[in-house]
Amino acid sequence: MERSVDAVGGNQTYYITTPIYYPSDKLHIGHAYTTIAGDAMARYKRLRGYDVRYLTGTDEHGQKIQKRAQAAGKQPQEFVDDIVKGIKELWSKLDISYDDFIRTTEDRHKKVVQKVFKRLLDQGDIYLGEYEGWYCVPCESFFTERQLNEGNCPDCGRPVEKIKEKSYFFRMSKYVDRLLAYYEENPGFIQPESRKNEMIQNFIKPGLEDLSVSRTTFDWGIQVPGDPEHVVYVWLDALTNYISALGYLAEEGESSELFAKYWPADVHLVGKEIVRFHTIYWPIFLMALDLPLPKKVFGHGWLLMKDGKMSKSKGNVVDPVPLIDRYGLDALRYYLLREVPFGADGVFTPEAFVERVNADLANDLGNLLHRTLTMVQKYHQGVVPEYVPNATAHDRELEQLAKDTVKRVEEAMEELQFSIALTAIWELVRAGNRYIEHTQPWNLAKDPDKHRALGSVLYHLLEVLRIVSVLIQPFMTQTPKKMWEQLGIGEGELTSWESVERFGVLPAGIQTSKGNPLFPRLDIKEEVEAILGMMRGTVTKPVEEEKKVSEQEGYISIDEFFQTDLRVAEILEAAPVKNANRLLKLQLDLGTEKRQVVSGIAEYYRPEELVGQKVICVANLKPVKLRGEKSEGMILAASENGRLVLATVSGDIPNGTRVK
Ligand code: MSP
Repeated sequence: MERSVDAVGGNQTYYITTPIYYPSDKLHIGHAYTTIAGDAMARYKRLRGYDVRYLTGTDEHGQKIQKRAQAAGKQPQEFVDDIVKGIKELWSKLDISYDDFIRTTEDRHKKVVQKVFKRLLDQGDIYLGEYEGWYCVPCESFFTERQLNEGNCPDCGRPVEKIKEKSYFFRMSKYVDRLLAYYEENPGFIQPESRKNEMIQNFIKPGLEDLSVSRTTFDWGIQVPGDPEHVVYVWLDALTNYISALGYLAEEGESSELFAKYWPADVHLVGKEIVRFHTIYWPIFLMALDLPLPKKVFGHGWLLMKDGKMSKSKGNVVDPVPLIDRYGLDALRYYLLREVPFGADGVFTPEAFVERVNADLANDLGNLLHRTLTMVQKYHQGVVPEYVPNATAHDRELEQLAKDTVKRVEEAMEELQFSIALTAIWELVRAGNRYIEHTQPWNLAKDPDKHRALGSVLYHLLEVLRIVSVLIQPFMTQTPKKMWEQLGIGEGELTSWESVERFGVLPAGIQTSKGNPLFPRLDIKEEVEAILGMMRGTVTKPVEEEKKVSEQEGYISIDEFFQTDLRVAEILEAAPVKNANRLLKLQLDLGTEKRQVVSGIAEYYRPEELVGQKVICVANLKPVKLRGEKSEGMILAASENGRLVLATVSGDIPNGTRVK
């Protein structure tokens, strides 16, 4: 079988990392974005035969975490343990195929950081001095007066703190020339290219000052060896994760086999705001340790909202979990990787999400599979026909496109251009749908002499679907398997990357089995509302579940209706929820009991308008916590096109009366 340039035996390694996340809060869709991108790349390289190591983890020290823990009334370790548990659950929900998860509070990491610090101190790269300057707590970054932006942090725009303390410093300037030479000799080191110029112009050219690498004003960190008053600066601590996780200096002066095998990293994936740490500080630390530098640092853009960055205070944070629960994991993974060119910023809008999922997944891909299998069932007893190579011009065109698509995907993936790879795959999907229009199998079926031609058309469609199912494996983790089930093939040779480099590999005679559509078609208006509801913190049901009920009969039974316990409730108090400008916290009187319900109505009602109103409450809804507030139930409202009116009862009736 023909093999392309990038295919390797099992011994070529590929080491890819995500930034390690601050466990200061629940992660959102922006963090999911980086990790899904890394996962797509790791899966792609595994498919190409590489021995891949995909590392992710958490950056658990520093003043910000310590302050957060204090505010939550917890010990820092207890605080981060809880959040890290949630992060791991999220990665499992997103099907992240990481090989290792490093936490900077683990012993295996702490002892490496201390050894690194000691070595740099012993060899004179680190020295003790005094620091005076500005510090941004959320960014864990030091700035000189000159670097500030109108007195605020140049990265996040928030106020900075003036600090003066004894500190250890790293002699950055010593390595600058070597760093610039490395940039010069390795043009692919910083990607996208524009970020390299930014580093040189904004940070290196103005002169690299010695970096403060220890702190004494808080103690949630790794102690400086021999000087317990100091903890190691979080960025020196954090960046070291990429080598401590491989067992660098794990034993007395020794590194593990993993380190020998995987270092240097092939790519560190990072968000654009932390490119500086990865392309200036990190390479310089590594040079001082006499270690090879990573081959590439890719700085991707941010996933933004219409009103800018996602933030709790704006109440515009998108949690990936309800999106997955409603639309499935692959819809989210596809959207994130397809919508935004990797490297640029992108804006998440519910409209774009729903339209993308509808057009590409339900219409293009879902339709191609469904139409093809329906015809194979109807015209060929559900069995894969014989392959007739190059029979018609349409066949030749489709076969050529399939081959070109594989190459285009390979080239795009080398550049981490997920969106380009997916665009290429979807051109093939659309060509499959067009091929149906051109060949009109329903007409061929009318003429018994065209039986062979009909078989060939069906074969071409099935083979295109198989090729697509193989090519989408890095991006989507569930759809390929669903497609294989329907195509009647199991995971193995027929789903390997090599198998798509030639057309006509699918064996004749396989029994296909048409299943449910891969993606339900969505009602754009309804779903946009649903996503806005999620952003406001309203719980929604999976689309599949809703569809099942209505598709089966179009109605629900009275028993089903009575499963919902609706009660008259009086609003006793209403108050805003901290950091959530769409939510109100309501105290309800349900006759026999009082309850708190959090409702996304703050944009429509002022708290004082609500007190005394009799509303309808869903009393048997599973309690949830919204923005840290317990919510036991939901109140009903009519809403459309940005308007919302509460459902109230017109007459005087005791609180707690059942509504039916
Ligand atoms: N702990 C440091 C990284 C240390 S790596 C040695 C850190 N953590 S973070 O949790 O704040 O961010 C982790 C990553 O998530 C960053 O690459 C950041 O760019 C990314 N994102 C956070 N919000 C994001 C979006 N809204 N969009 C895209 N990526 C975002 O920085």
